[in-house]
Amino acid sequence: MKVDGVAYRSIWRDPSETTVTVVDQTLLPHRFDTLKLMNVADAIDAIKRMVVRGAPLIGVTGAYGYAMALRDNPSDANVDAAFDAINAARPTAVNLRWALEIMRNEVRELAPDDRAVAAYVAADRLRAEDIETNGTIAEHGAKLVREIYEANGRSRPVNILTHCNTGWIACVDWGTALGVVYRAHDDGIPVHVWVDETRPRNQGASLTTWELGSHGVPHTLVVDNAGGHLMQHGQVDICLVGADRVTASGDACNKIGTYLKALAAKDNNVPFYVVLPGSTIDWSIDDGVAEIEIEERASDEVTHISGISGDGSIVKVRLAPKGTKAGNPAFDVTPARLVTGLVTERGVAEASRAGLLGLYPEKA
Ligand code: MRU
Repeated sequence: MKVDGVAYRSIWRDPSETTVTVVDQTLLPHRFDTLKLMNVADAIDAIKRMVVRGAPLIGVTGAYGYAMALRDNPSDANVDAAFDAINAARPTAVNLRWALEIMRNEVRELAPDDRAVAAYVAADRLRAEDIETNGTIAEHGAKLVREIYEANGRSRPVNILTHCNTGWIACVDWGTALGVVYRAHDDGIPVHVWVDETRPRNQGASLTTWELGSHGVPHTLVVDNAGGHLMQHGQVDICLVGADRVTASGDACNKIGTYLKALAAKDNNVPFYVVLPGSTIDWSIDDGVAEIEIEERASDEVTHISGISGDGSIVKVRLAPKGTKAGNPAFDVTPARLVTGLVTERGVAEASRAGLLGLYPEKA
């Protein structure tokens, strides 16, 4: 996607060929800047600090981190040690484990001296596939948006509600739920997006608004609690959200607050779609509420809010009294029964084991 007329992706290899550069998402929307990741420690730190974030991008960054780890130490021991260290950076998005498993399988049987080159080739492949996959997801999802536009007699823009940030900076390019929005917009379907601010880190307020604004997509920022009200008043035609992990039976784990939107959507007969690449499906589990580890993040993300000060520096401002205890579960699980459909690169599936296996029969 373009930033000030220049085409960017969220991560790329440097001319040196063995380091990578990422868009620093902790500075957006105030400053567009990049950060060079020199080694595996930098990659882990970038994932932990959410310099990079979003399930697909976490996976690709983990893959390059793994390549850098083997560049520096291609020993048998490090094939597993690097896997474990990177995989522990963030626990919920399964794309990280998915990418690392592919990486480890590529190199495990090779002689140590051959491992780094093979790992970079595999990481480049995962990066390229992410772009292609998200482009295809967007095509499938845009058909749903078009159907709503037609059903409304082409009389008004389609109102889409989204949560968190699922755009090109959450992937390598395009995005998942926002990729659908971009595609619909680019295809000439009038859309308007309600952007949930997405406390506590405000990915909606900071990142999604920045992305949509840069792409010229009409949007309105709302507080997280506004969605139910908007749905009751007929102001939402469709909810489109991403996912960090979807179980084999279609339960969808995504940014905290997604579940409440799905409940409100159900109560108001608003279609609720989860948009994801196949790499987000965790085929090893069924019950998302019981089986997905939910990341608990630092309490100062809740007690404080960050923004920009008059001199342009990014500051944290306290909201709650000193010493306030704050809980900060970063994700929640929307049970399959609340999900209208799962939009994937292979088409739209019912949120159920049968539905997913219909698209991914090789997983039976
Ligand atoms: O904590 P984050 O910002 O990494 O959470 C991101 C989300 O919850 C996204 O909705 C999800 O990763 C899908 S992004 C394409």
